[in-house]
Amino acid sequence: MSAETFSIRPAATRDINSMWEIDQACFEPDIAYSVDIFYFHLLVQRDPAFVAFDSGGKMAGFVMTSREARGKAMVVTIDILPPWRGKGLGSRLIVMAEEAMKTRGAKKMVLQTAVDNAPAMAFYEKHGYKNVKTLKDYYGKGKPAFQFEKPL
Ligand SMILES: CC(C)(COP(=O)(O)OP(=O)(O)OC[C@H]1O[C@@H](n2cnc3c(N)ncnc32)[C@H](O)[C@@H]1OP(=O)(O)O)[C@@H](O)C(=O)NCCC(=O)NCCS
Repeated sequence: MSAETFSIRPAATRDINSMWEIDQACFEPDIAYSVDIFYFHLLVQRDPAFVAFDSGGKMAGFVMTSREARGKAMVVTIDILPPWRGKGLGSRLIVMAEEAMKTRGAKKMVLQTAVDNAPAMAFYEKHGYKNVKTLKDYYGKGKPAFQFEKPL
């Protein structure tokens, strides 16, 4: 299946449970988000988020962002379920997230990734992100993250 067969739309309240389930499937418990984080970004902050569905209508992945102060935006997470990885879907979603944030006046996209998440780092580098610093104990004691950034 190529990326073109996925349908993508802005995330809505009814998507939160599926988004949370995908995040639980993609990450270890120390990195996965609680469902409250999804409610906060989608309902309270109304931050841009996009959900992608396969041809059978099943959610295949999503991207969730956060608007910060002073022109900064964040990729909270981008999650594609394993069967749908490597097909260009993550690329479509991150481009949509960047465009949505640019439209809202953001000048810079920032994100963090575990230092052992090689696929994510390769993905972000392919999209023009630079590793700018190490955040010690970001995911808990002894679990650092790299911070990546990209001007928008
Ligand atoms: C990281 C992730 C979002 C990438 O999504 P994807 O749809 O698989 O990525 P794409 O198919 O759009 O890949 C685009 C480019 O990223 C790079 N890339 C993606 N997956 C890669 C992998 N496993 N190894 C090396 N490079 C990879 C490649 O350069 C690829 O370009 P190419 O296909 O021309 O080689 C996906 O692997 C994922 O959901 N992982 C689990 C959750 C996660 O770690 N999210 C990041 C949170 S920090």
